[in-house]
Amino acid sequence: MALLEVKALKKHFTVSISPMRHATLKAVDGIDFSLDKNRVFALVGESGCGKSTVARLLLRLIAPTAGEIRFRGENILGLKGGALKAFRKSVQIIFQDPFASLNPRMTVFDALSEPLKIHGLAGRAELKDRVSELLQSVGLGDVLDSYPHEFSGGQRQRICIARALAVSPEVIVADEPLSALDVSIQAQILNLLLELKERTGISFVFISHDLRVVEYLSDEVAVMYLGKIVEVSKTEDLFGSPLHPYTEILLSSAPSIKADGRKKPELKGEVPSPINIPSGCPFHPRCHRRFEPCERVVPELRQYKGRQVACHLRNPAI
Ligand SMILES: Nc1ncnc2c1ncn2[C@@H]1O[C@H](COP(=O)(O)OP(=O)(O)OP(=O)(O)O)[C@@H](O)[C@H]1O
Ligand SMILES: [Mg+2]
Repeated sequence: MALLEVKALKKHFTVSISPMRHATLKAVDGIDFSLDKNRVFALVGESGCGKSTVARLLLRLIAPTAGEIRFRGENILGLKGGALKAFRKSVQIIFQDPFASLNPRMTVFDALSEPLKIHGLAGRAELKDRVSELLQSVGLGDVLDSYPHEFSGGQRQRICIARALAVSPEVIVADEPLSALDVSIQAQILNLLLELKERTGISFVFISHDLRVVEYLSDEVAVMYLGKIVEVSKTEDLFGSPLHPYTEILLSSAPSIKADGRKKPELKGEVPSPINIPSGCPFHPRCHRRFEPCERVVPELRQYKGRQVACHLRNPAI
C-alpha cells in the first residue's frame, strides 16, 4: 500500500474579478499520484500551476473541492480527534521562507520543544537533550537560547527542518525549501535532505521549480501545468527522454541540464490564467508539437511505456 495516495483531487477557488462578478479559479483540477515509503516524489511546473495548493491540501490545511487524499489507506478528510492528531504528527511541512515560518519571539529551544510537548514525545527532563539532539542532526551546535534573527537563511532553514523532524514524521512536504536561500547554501541544505532521507527513511513530496535540484534528489517527478499533472516519470526517464512537450521545454530552458544535441524548443508566452483555461489540451496554445485534436480534446493522463503522460502525441488511438 502506498504511504500517501491522491485521487482525483481538485481545489477550486471562487475569486472576484470585478465588484459584481465572480469566477472559478481551478488551482488543482483533478490530479492523481502516490508516494511510497522512503521515496522522494517531486512536483515541478511554472509559477501558479498549483504546487503549493497541493502541499496545503496534503497537510489538510485547506479542504479539497473534490477527490481524496489517503494516508496509509485512510481518507484524511474523515480523520478526527486522536487519529487527526496522529496524522498531523506523521506529515510535516517545510516552507520556502524559513524566516516567516519561525516565531521571532521564540528561542530555538522553545520552537523545537513545542511540537515535542504537544505530542507528548518528551518529558520536562528530557526536553533539553532531545532538542540538542535534533539540532545536531541538522548540523547545528548549541544554539538553544538564540532567536531566529541571529541566524543566516540556511541556518534558519536547518531549524525549520529540525522542527519538522522533532515529531519523527513519515512524510515531509517541502515546498521550495531552497529557493529563498543563497546559491552557495542551497547545496548544503539539499545534501542535508538527502542524508535525512537515507538515515531516517522519511518520504518527501518535494516541490521545486529548479530542475537541477529535482534531478539530484527525487526518485519520481510529476510535471504540473494549470492544475493538472501532464507527466509522471521516474527521474532518470524524465530527464533522459521527456514524454510531454511541456516537460521537454522545461528541461531545455533549465540552464545547466545537459544538452544532448536535440533541437531546443522555447517556452512561448505566459501561462494562461487558471480562471480561463484553454480548451482541449491546456498547453496547446504554447505547444511546439500541437496538431489537430489538441485544441478540441482534453488529453487524459494515461499509461505509456510504464510512465504516465497526458498528450495526444502519445495516444495510439488518435
Ligand atoms: N486562497 C486562494 N484564493 C484564490 N486563489 C488562490 C488561492 N491560493 C492559490 N490561488 C491561486 O491558485 C493558483 C495556484 O497557486 P499555487 O500557489 O498553488 O501555485 P504554485 O505552483 O505554488 O506557484 P509558485 O511556483 O509561484 O509558488 C494561482 O493562480 C493562485 O493565484
Ligand atoms: Mg508555490
